[in-house]
Amino acid sequence: MAREISVIAIDGPVAAGKTVVGRELARALGFGYLDTGIMYRAITWLALNHGITVDDETSLGELARSYPLGLMGEDCNQVLVDGHTLGPELRDSTVDRNVSIISKAPMVRRELVAQQRTTAAQGKIVMIGRDIGTVVLPDADLKVYLTASPEKRAQRRWQEMQDRGEAVELLTVLSETIARDEIDSGRDDSPLKPADDAWELNTDGLDIQQVVQKIVDRTISPK
Ligand code: DC
Repeated sequence: MAREISVIAIDGPVAAGKTVVGRELARALGFGYLDTGIMYRAITWLALNHGITVDDETSLGELARSYPLGLMGEDCNQVLVDGHTLGPELRDSTVDRNVSIISKAPMVRRELVAQQRTTAAQGKIVMIGRDIGTVVLPDADLKVYLTASPEKRAQRRWQEMQDRGEAVELLTVLSETIARDEIDSGRDDSPLKPADDAWELNTDGLDIQQVVQKIVDRTISPK
């Protein structure tokens, strides 16, 4: 008999659609939802705010240990930290540019992974990130690795930036996307890669609802 699906890990590169797909999937299943990228973004925002340089791993680790993150808001899309409630500022381009570097720091990862595992322990959750299926929740009931071409992903990010009123060239976004992929996949600690037992799903040419439906189908009849 197929085991009941309770913990779902979704990993993949920048702008593969993980956030919106994960959120819609969680709604469709009535599950909780955590986008772990927001936690790395909050530590990055805090480090910039505290004047800590991106290569000062000891101070970054200390920061992550000293300031536990409170996840709040609908779909956990806000972080309460050090007296600040952070939402849209977590998507600022300064955070975008620094987050991949800061998230390489092993001490930062250790702190955040512990918080993520505590959240997942309650079950019925969709968790989004880079290392969820490989490191954070290796026993997840379903692991999805979402991909899309760099051009498609850059186009999505560029559109989001346009919608926020940020003037930026598409080619710049494409090269930043590729650079962030390289940092995320090339780091020593918990690099971005599909778990051996992950289901790889390319979202090129699919809309959000089609992707969500494919995953829902998979929860009903796991392969
Ligand atoms: O998904 P995102 O763009 O919000 O993630 C921001 C950064 O955080 C990304 O460049 C890599 C890092 N990250 C990570 O290292 N591990 C995770 N589980 C989630 C995000």
